[in-house]
Order: sequence, then structure tokens, then C-alpha cells
Amino acid sequence: MKLWDGRFTKPTDSMTDHFNSSLSFDYRMYQQDIAGSIAHVKMLGKQGIITPQESEQIQQGLEKLLLDIKMGKVSLAQKSEDIHMLLETLLTERIGDVGKKLHTGRSRNDQVAVDMRLYLKDEILEIKQLILDLLQTIYDMAKQHKDTFMPGYTHLQRAQPISFAHHLLAYFEMFKRDYKRFEFAREMADSMPLGSGALATTTYPLDRNYTAQLLGFKEVCQNSLDGVSDRDFCLDFLYACANMAMHLSRFSEELIIFNSHEFKFIELDDAYSTGSSIMPQKKNPDIAELVRGKSGRVYGNLVALLTTLKGLPLAYNKDMQEDKEAVFDSLDTVKMALPIFTKMLSTITVNKDQMYDAAAGGFTNATDAADYLVKKGVAFRDAHHIIGKLVLICTNSGYTLETLPLSEYQKISEIFDNDIYDAIAIKTCVLDRNVLGGPAPEAVSTHLKLACEMLATERGISPVEN
Ligand code: ARG
Repeated sequence: MKLWDGRFTKPTDSMTDHFNSSLSFDYRMYQQDIAGSIAHVKMLGKQGIITPQESEQIQQGLEKLLLDIKMGKVSLAQKSEDIHMLLETLLTERIGDVGKKLHTGRSRNDQVAVDMRLYLKDEILEIKQLILDLLQTIYDMAKQHKDTFMPGYTHLQRAQPISFAHHLLAYFEMFKRDYKRFEFAREMADSMPLGSGALATTTYPLDRNYTAQLLGFKEVCQNSLDGVSDRDFCLDFLYACANMAMHLSRFSEELIIFNSHEFKFIELDDAYSTGSSIMPQKKNPDIAELVRGKSGRVYGNLVALLTTLKGLPLAYNKDMQEDKEAVFDSLDTVKMALPIFTKMLSTITVNKDQMYDAAAGGFTNATDAADYLVKKGVAFRDAHHIIGKLVLICTNSGYTLETLPLSEYQKISEIFDNDIYDAIAIKTCVLDRNVLGGPAPEAVSTHLKLACEMLATERGISPVEN
């Protein structure tokens, strides 16, 4: 027996039931479904669409049902088309015929839309906390590494010296933007579709603003067709997940490279590494690799839902049921990847000497050597050429710019003097890049101050710097 089978002359095929059912994945919205129903039924009572007693009876029935599900007294692993049908059936079994009035002036189309919005609004708050934890870790680490010099790269070739703090803070900015993207996705979900009905509202005198207020929505969806067919908020969420997964993946990739024997800039903690079944010497960065790898499914979910939605006429179509697995999978993936990534990052060992040697040995101060000449009146293009020649000499003779004797410098240009060595010391090169947003410890401190303020504002506490 189905809640909608009045006009049917025979039962549905069992394959239809199985194929059509979303219960195996939408059961997780049971709290939001019940919250939506309670608000709806309160509004029905207030408007005199059902009697206050009926409204009260249904509300109590729903509250008791919620409690019993939470306590494990009621299982949701049942045969039903979806969570909405199941909860209504369970309610009516418990409180009798009055339960059948719950669905007055409502359709599953606006019901599922409100459930998804409530669900995402709750979950995004959790994701935001997880991002804040990651931002805090990055901030704490950056504070320790203002004077940890390393090469900055372009094309994965050593380019100019920076500090590890400066490198880390680049990720602070990326994840800060991700945080904002999730805030935006939450805002997009913050409109209340109930009252849209199946597509064209209803003939009952609903008070939609009241329902929205009860459910904590900022506003009401202004068009009923849009109210039931908008899944943009799911896409915004999936995009926020995808962009963040990309950042996590890039960061993971760097940790993998920096952790390699070729780089040895960092060492991943044993707790976040694994061994090989055959090669006893191996300590593999599996966690970082998995975080990197999971970006694939998160991108896939975004593309999948975009594709599902692209040809749909207004208003509701069953295709839209496909939004859930995409959203839930990205949600679960991000909620798993973020905290383990944060732990993995916070436990790395930083090999400062190795980082320094890489910066010193990799001609990362070549630009500074050219600037040295410019400051003595040489045109930059000529200076570039002179230093290029010196780099070639160093490469052929095993010197670095710091160890090359002054006599060799002077063979190429007489302008060079003993002060060249100070000018191209790695420390000088970093300290001199004291432009806003740059790697000099002073510029990094300015950034750290802003980062500290952002974290404090978002956590609702006052900023504590040290
Ligand atoms: N399980 C459905 C979904 O997730 C609920 C809405 C069903 N509405 C309908 N008219 N069949 O989209």
C-alpha cells in the first residue's frame, strides 16, 4: 500500500520500487524532515487550516518519533520510497488518522527542498569549524617559521628565497577564501521553499513567513516554481567543496614532494604514513596521496549534478533526487579529509637546514645579485646578463654565488666589491623583500596579525597574538 496509490490499478514492479527509492541515502535528513513538518503543522494550526488540537497532536507525535529514532527505538532501514513517506507513515501508525492531516498544503517537492536546505545549512556550519581548525594550524606553524628560509619555486625550479611561514600563509589565504565560499553556499541555501507546494503553491491561507521564521530561514523563496526546482544552492556547495578539495590536493602534493628523499624539507609523522608490504625501508605518504586523490570524486559530484540539472524543464522532476548522493558524498569526503589533513600537517617535522641549503645552493639569490649591480648604476638588462654569465661559471666550477671568489666576479665586471657577499646572503634576500605581502619577517608579521584577527572574529573571541 502506497500513500499515493488511489489511482493505480496494480502494484508497482519490485524493480520500480527499488530503483525509485531514495531512502537508503536520504534517511540521514530525518531530523530536518521532522523539523520542517513541525514548523509546517504549527503554521497550519495558527492559520486555522487544521484545529489547534490537531496541530498539537501531530507536533507531539513528531517530537516523540524524533526522540525514538535518535534513541534507536525506531529503525529507518525499512521499505519506503523516501524518508518523507516513511516518516509520515510511521507518524500515522502511531497517532492515527490525525497524522494524515500533516501533509495538508504541502507537497514532497517543497518538503524535500526544505530538507536539503536545512541539512546543508547545518552541515556547512560544521565544515566551517573544520576549516577554522586548519587555518589555526597553518597560522600557528607560520608563527614558528618566519626565519625558516627556503627556496620559493616557479616551474618547480628554485626561484627566489622566501620563508616557510610565507609559503604556509599562501595556503592560509586559499583556505580563507574556501571558508567564504562555504558561507556563500550557506547563504544561497537560506531561503525557505515550503508553501511552494508541488509547483504552484496552494489554496490554503499559508503564512510562509511564519514557517520561515520558525525554521530560522532568512527569507522565503519568492517564486514557487523556483522554490521546488532550484538546486543552485547544492551546486554552490559542491563548488565550494571542489575548490577546497583542489587546495587540499595541491598542498598534499607539496607535502609529498617535500617529504621525498630528494627534497627532505619535511618529514611526515609516522602516525600519518604507512609502510609497504614488500619493501621494508618504505614510509609512504598515503594520507596525503588519498587527500589528493579524493579531489577526483569531489569534482565528479559537481559535474554530475550540473549535468543532471541542465536539461530539466520547470518545475520538479525526479532527476533532482540525484542531487543527494552527490551532495552527501562530497560532504562526507570533505569532512573526512579536512581533519586528517590538519592533523597530518600539524605533526610534520621541518628540516630547516635542508630548506636553507636548498635556497643557498640553488642560485635563488641571482636576482638579488643583479639588483646589486642595478643599485650601482648598471641597467637591469645588462645586470641580468652579467649574473647569468657568473651563474654559468659557478655551475661549471662547482661554486655558488656566495662562495665564488671576488676575483672571479671582478673578471666579469669591475663594479663588484666585497659587499656583494652581504647583498646576496639568503637572509638579506628575504629581509629585503619587505613589501606588503612579501616574505620578509616584518611583512609576514603584518599578515599574521590579520590572520589572527580573522580567526578571532570567526571564533567570536578576542585576538591573542604572541
Ligand atoms: N525523494 C524525492 C527527491 O529526493 C522526494 C520528492 C519526490 N517528489 C515527487 N514528486 N516524486 O527528490
